[in-house]
Amino acid sequence: GQSLRKQIFDIHEDAANWFLKVFKGNSDFGKAARKYWHEERMFKEGSEDELRIGMSPVDWSEFKAEIEKKYSYEAIVESGLFFAPRNKTSVMGLMPRFRGRLMISLCDVQGRVVAFTARKTSLTPTDIDYEEGKYVNSPETPIFKKQNMLFNFHRARKSAIELGYFIIVEGQIDALRMYVSGFQNTVAGQGTALGENQFNLIKRHVKKSVLMLDGDNAGQKAARRVLPIMLSCNVEPYVCVIPEGEDPDTLILKNGADGVKNLLENKSTAVSFMVDGFKRAFPNPSVGDKRQILEDIYSFVSCASSHVAKYEFLREASSRLGANFDAVVKDYLARYSDE
Ligand code: CTP
Ligand code: MN
Ligand code: MN
Ligand code: MN
Ligand code: MN
Repeated sequence: GQSLRKQIFDIHEDAANWFLKVFKGNSDFGKAARKYWHEERMFKEGSEDELRIGMSPVDWSEFKAEIEKKYSYEAIVESGLFFAPRNKTSVMGLMPRFRGRLMISLCDVQGRVVAFTARKTSLTPTDIDYEEGKYVNSPETPIFKKQNMLFNFHRARKSAIELGYFIIVEGQIDALRMYVSGFQNTVAGQGTALGENQFNLIKRHVKKSVLMLDGDNAGQKAARRVLPIMLSCNVEPYVCVIPEGEDPDTLILKNGADGVKNLLENKSTAVSFMVDGFKRAFPNPSVGDKRQILEDIYSFVSCASSHVAKYEFLREASSRLGANFDAVVKDYLARYSDE
């Protein structure tokens, strides 16, 4: 038969098509999905086709019967669409991982569906613990490695190359909202799971990128963690700070695309983002407070690959903090003596 990988790709393609069919169908699941997608999340009619959105029902008999005829038992289990059974069972006996959820397809760089993230809806059953979660994600499989996933990349690439940068958001829905609102160069990690592999992929297409994470503590903390990784992957980092309590999705629904356009026009450099956050947290900083923010900045600066870049970051930091430039350089060199 076909190779395991090929079968798992095909199972995902079939699953995405089946979820879309359920989304469009007359069952309660279809009705709830359309109400959720169009009325609650405000995505327009037809967007489900282009964005490969769907709905998972609770009963998967129809889909199980379809794939049982086409694929090996091993491929079906390895696809991750079902919980791995303790003992070998029939395909019909497998337990679906996603039930009563809005299905968002995750695609690889070529646009092939390789996994799903599934959002809770009013029809998500609550009889099993994990089903309480807002999102349930595919596990890693032979065709899906979380570290390599950059959501929406295959749709965003062309625009990002033209504009010279990607916009990086936290959630899949944020990426889709940005994409349909004119910011086609938007991609998402998987929550805060943004690392080297994703930035190495980004680096092959653009020189810089803009982080636009949620306007809450988690989002801002994630930005501080991610900036040095971007820099060490040679992706020049910029940050847009979303107003408190919003994310790119809710901001656009509230203020329209112009709100995001303004944010992009006023994007911050990494250093000014760090210093501004520090100034908000410490309106009257002590010498010790200043030393701490400088340590954070030094650690960031050390990730730059050129001395010119390092000195530019240090100059910006010293001027924004009102610290003596020569002293800042001296302290930096004392910490990072590889210079
Ligand atoms: N996430 C997850 N599991 C959760 C919560 C979050 O995997 N229980 C991931 C998802 O990828 C999610 C991202 O972290 O998109 C950001 O989380 P959050 O901001 O809480 O979710 P939103 O994307 O804003 O989701 P929504 O708008 O649907 O509420
Ligand atoms: Mn529709
Ligand atoms: Mn968040
Ligand atoms: Mn959201
Ligand atoms: Mn969010």
